Amino acid sequence: MTTSTPLTQDELKTLVGQAALQYVVRGEIVGVGTGSTVNKFIDALAGIKGDIKGAVSSSVASTERLKALGIPVFDANEVDSLAVYIDGADEIDGNGHMVKGGGAALTREKIVAALAARFVCIADESKLVAALGAFPLPVEVIPMATQQITRRFAAMGGKATVRLKEGQPLVTDNGQHILDVTGLSIADPLAFESEINQWPGVVTVGVFAHQKASVCLLGTAQGVNTVTY
Ligand code: 5RP
Repeated sequence: MTTSTPLTQDELKTLVGQAALQYVVRGEIVGVGTGSTVNKFIDALAGIKGDIKGAVSSSVASTERLKALGIPVFDANEVDSLAVYIDGADEIDGNGHMVKGGGAALTREKIVAALAARFVCIADESKLVAALGAFPLPVEVIPMATQQITRRFAAMGGKATVRLKEGQPLVTDNGQHILDVTGLSIADPLAFESEINQWPGVVTVGVFAHQKASVCLLGTAQGVNTVTY
């Protein structure tokens, strides 16, 4: 009898990063997200770089990785639309609604996702949840609005904390700050996203319900599970 060692989380990320290649439309520009899972996808994408025009990237970090691997990076303003956007998630529910922004790139991720006909989410199975809300919700904010937004979250039972980097507020690629909010119950992701996004000073809330996933490639012990929404 043979016993196999379970795949590590890192190996599951590699698996789904490679599986995402099948969704990349040859001859076109692909939308690329941000994070450790997307890094695996970018590494795999380098293997077919001759077959694509290039990428639109959702962060400085992904842009640097793409360019280092010789993949041309286009500005989002240079494209009218994309066939596909590939990105990770911090949480994804049974409807393809996600929480994103653990890597602080949520605003650019939403912008690139909005250009794409299809959002392919790549994630290991730990990201699958029955309902969004356990992962601290990232919200990109204009710094002068931090305290009033914190009070608004408190009024709905949430505790917002400014994300720090080396003891100072983390500054996003857009020059803004991130609040991480715990204690929320996100029963209706579409309504929640719409409501928070219209608060003055909110740049982007990390609920992706309007730009939800069309497909999720979930890395499991049994291999890649493809879920379509
Ligand atoms: C970055 C994101 C990432 O997609 C999310 O944090 C998942 O990252 P990882 O693949 O490293 O788990 O939203 O802003």
